[in-house]
Amino acid sequence: MNTIEKYKKYVNISMVERVQPVVIEKAQGAIITDIEGKNYIDCFSGIAVTNAGHCNEKVSEAAKAQMDKLVHCCSYVYYSQPTADLAEKLAQITPGRLQKTFFGNGGAEAIEGAMRLAKQFTGKTEFIGLQASFHGRSYATLSVTGNNARKRRGGPYMVGCTFLPAPYCYRCFFELEYPKCRLRCARALEDIIRFNTYDSVAGFIAEPLLGEGGIITPPDDYFLEIEKILKKHEILLLVDEVQTGFGRAGKMFGIEHYGVEPDIMMMAKGIADGFPLSGFIAREEIADSFKPGDHLSTFGGNPVSCAAALANIEFLEEQNLADEALKKGEYLKDQLERLKAKHKLIGEVRGKGLMIGIELVRDHASKTPASDEGKKIREICLKNGVLLGFGGIYANVLRIQPPLVISQGQMENVVKVLDLALQKI
Ligand SMILES: Cc1ncc(COP(=O)(O)O)c(C=O)c1O
Repeated sequence: MNTIEKYKKYVNISMVERVQPVVIEKAQGAIITDIEGKNYIDCFSGIAVTNAGHCNEKVSEAAKAQMDKLVHCCSYVYYSQPTADLAEKLAQITPGRLQKTFFGNGGAEAIEGAMRLAKQFTGKTEFIGLQASFHGRSYATLSVTGNNARKRRGGPYMVGCTFLPAPYCYRCFFELEYPKCRLRCARALEDIIRFNTYDSVAGFIAEPLLGEGGIITPPDDYFLEIEKILKKHEILLLVDEVQTGFGRAGKMFGIEHYGVEPDIMMMAKGIADGFPLSGFIAREEIADSFKPGDHLSTFGGNPVSCAAALANIEFLEEQNLADEALKKGEYLKDQLERLKAKHKLIGEVRGKGLMIGIELVRDHASKTPASDEGKKIREICLKNGVLLGFGGIYANVLRIQPPLVISQGQMENVVKVLDLALQKI
């Protein structure tokens, strides 16, 4: 049996429409190579994970060195040096007064833990999320995920979760236009608190850019308005940096674009360039509201993953990869705007840094989502050596989220292949 046949027989893949037809043997930088030796330019980074590039030498060396010393001890039963060093580094590079990190393994675990911490600190139990958001596949994270397509057949969910319309300017819930709207979608938070909750809101949870929702990009002053309302009602701001963190959106953390200070910030994906690790960081007084017995994770803060994460962050800093992502993102967005002028199928190009969404519509007036067309474009690009992401709440957004080390030549190729695919539709 070959790999695809074994997948069909032994791997539970019934929950995905299909696995992309590429059997990957190896990857380096922004290039993925399949078992036949064909190269692809990777524009999805394993869902926005390998920010420092696939098999980054510095990260791999650090992980290998740590593997020869200690693989596991449980970093909450004994002290592990890489865990301590990484926590110190995160306190230095995260915004504001964020200081103490709890480490887990994946994004959902970080969000779930952060929600527990918010409840413990505030003594309150409700959460407000955003429509079109995505926070993970566990029970609490799906409860605050604002997308029926992810939640169906899994309910009932946690009580005490309610949702604010997304800052989705292209499809404004209030049918208004920015900036004339004066951030109606953010101001609606007052109504949500007043009419949908029972004065027990522990936290408001949001992604700086809504990745799975279709790279929905809030206006620059959005979070300032949100923060004002949260402060008034003594509600914590929980920022989900799982997808936007570690240079992806053109800053070390996406929320830095918005000038607000999170009370708790959750991280995963790009934290260790592919090694499984996640964390949530909080101010000391919030973090310390966990009491003995409240929380733990057997693999959380694994020494190998933490050593890889430290090397990864050092590499991001040495190479100024957040700034690079910002510059490269501007170049790509310019090129994609050029394609938009040429191809009617492109309704909007949006995003920050190397977190770019291309929303496809059948016509610009009705904005009917062009989902099938998107799938075809993705397929044509794949055949021509470019791997794209795909998503959005209407399944019509091409996602360009390459490793931040992608070269100018590779970006030019991506644009060329996209242009060709759009011509073929
Ligand atoms: C913003 C955000 N939060 C949480 C998650 C869940 O992360 P994981 O799949 O590692 O549990 C994701 C995954 O795509 C995400 O994009």
